[in-house]
Amino acid sequence: ALNTSIAFFVLGLGLVVNNISHDIAERKHDAETLRKTHDELELRITERTTELAKTNEALQTEIIERSHAEEALKKSEERFRSIVEGNFDAIHVLDPEGRFTYSSPSVERITGYKPDDIIGKYFKYFIAETDIPKAEQAFYGMMSGKTMEMVALEATKKDGTPFIIEANGSPVFKDGKIMDIQVVYRDITEKRTIEEQLRHSQKMDAVGQLASGIAHDFNNILTAIIGYGTLLLRKNPDDNLVNEYTSEIITSANRAAALTRDLLTFSRKHTINPQPALLNELIKMVERILARVLGEHIEFKVKIADENLVVKMDATQLEHVFLNLATNARDAMPEGGKLTIDICHVNLDNEFIDAHNYGIQGQYALITFTDTGIGMDKNTQSRVFEPFFTTKEVGKGTGLGLSMVYGAVKQHNGYINVYSEPGHGTVFKIYLPLSEEGVLGENKEPEIAAPKGNMETILLAEDDPDTRKIIKAVLEEYNYKVIEAVDGNDAISKFMEKKGEVKLLILDTIMPKIGGKQAYEGIKKIDPNIKAIFISGYTADMIKAKDLLETGFELLPKPIMPDKLLVKIRGLIDLKEGLMK
Ligand SMILES: Nc1ncnc2c1ncn2[C@@H]1O[C@H](COP(=O)(O)OP(=O)(O)O)[C@@H](O)[C@H]1O
Ligand SMILES: [Mg+2]
Repeated sequence: ALNTSIAFFVLGLGLVVNNISHDIAERKHDAETLRKTHDELELRITERTTELAKTNEALQTEIIERSHAEEALKKSEERFRSIVEGNFDAIHVLDPEGRFTYSSPSVERITGYKPDDIIGKYFKYFIAETDIPKAEQAFYGMMSGKTMEMVALEATKKDGTPFIIEANGSPVFKDGKIMDIQVVYRDITEKRTIEEQLRHSQKMDAVGQLASGIAHDFNNILTAIIGYGTLLLRKNPDDNLVNEYTSEIITSANRAAALTRDLLTFSRKHTINPQPALLNELIKMVERILARVLGEHIEFKVKIADENLVVKMDATQLEHVFLNLATNARDAMPEGGKLTIDICHVNLDNEFIDAHNYGIQGQYALITFTDTGIGMDKNTQSRVFEPFFTTKEVGKGTGLGLSMVYGAVKQHNGYINVYSEPGHGTVFKIYLPLSEEGVLGENKEPEIAAPKGNMETILLAEDDPDTRKIIKAVLEEYNYKVIEAVDGNDAISKFMEKKGEVKLLILDTIMPKIGGKQAYEGIKKIDPNIKAIFISGYTADMIKAKDLLETGFELLPKPIMPDKLLVKIRGLIDLKEGLMK
């Protein structure tokens, strides 16, 4: 049994051993395969790692390159953004439908609209109703690929203020298609206003030139009509009918003379004699006349300043200014109403000058005429100061009233503005510079009947033969001897010939060769006591008011009124005789 057991044991052992050895062999084989696989793997990993390293390197380079590019892009974007955002002009980008997609900071400065107010809105958003067709045309033009050049459009700011923009723009293409529309614009309201003012003042100057030319010729003609009329009156003391007709002729000629005076005032060619005077006094003087002009149906109030405002003024001319303004107010209130004249002291500062685009700083008297009449529309307002502009019926208005006012105010170095709305009345504001000088005494000429002469000799220099003829006729009629000269040089030589005999000079200011003023100076060297009367409508340019005060000669504007001339002649001759004695 034991043996069998052993035998089985051995057999079993043998089997086991056999099995084991078999196992080992197999395992050996497996390990081999494993190693091989491992080695292969190792190799592949090494290969891949190298590849990866390479790729990584390439990527790294790409990243660096990209970040460089990005930086450059950012810089360039920043540069363009600062150009756009720092630009004085407003810049918009629109999508092809016409909606705002970008709005630069200047847009807010110019229009008051923040980007949030406007982005997503259509381009017509702040364009004035009347200019929308123009804006649309420009937009569709750009959508068809064209650039838009300098289109002026009326628009409205966020706060409702109207303004004018000047825009240009262009489409932006991508891949042949329009991606955006760029629009750049600026506010040209102020530029427009200044251009408008310039055009207006140039036009006024041109019309002024024309008007003064006409007035000058007219004054020579009127001198003749009034002069001969006056002589005719003297010749026919007993014929009532002839006298009546003649008086009518003279009255009409005087009316025509008043018109030419307005024309000359408008073109600032009318002689003025400004003296420092109190504005309040002047108003008080004309108040009654103005009340009469206005009539009972118009309530009339004057508020004078509570301080003494001294203005260097030609009182006669300013009276005429007030009269014209009151007449217009009356015509604007046919159904009655109210006219207020208000005088106060103002300081013209930079704010005023900025608001009006004109003016010199300083202290001014402000005279305000406020009426409750029919008012005027914008077009009328822009033309009121033009000579012959009138909205009144033929025969009712001459269109010269406000032209005269305008010229007179300018001649006083002042400013005039008009504010009006149809149906809401009108306000005229006149600014006259205050004077530092003291007020002079009364300077009014007394009204005396034309005095006769005692056959004194007068040297008359006038280049216009008709005017010379009538003045000579008047002087001879009133008992003076007349020596005629045709220009300034002639006057000097005639004076030399008749030295001692000539008692007075009557000189036209503008003559060929040398004018009246120069002739007078030439003659004064020979006779320092000689007195002269200057005639002409142009004297304002030639002889300053200062000369007038210093030398004491007389100025007589055309047309020559015989009575005034004769009074002045007598005054000067008597003054001279007085000096000689
Ligand atoms: N106070 C006013 N109210 C309304 N319109 C006025 C007023 N003043 C002037 N105007 C307008 O200005 C125009 C020109 O005035 P003006 O030069 O005085 O000429 P005229 O009075 O002869 O018409 C007038 O015809 C009128 O249309
Ligand atoms: Mg008038």
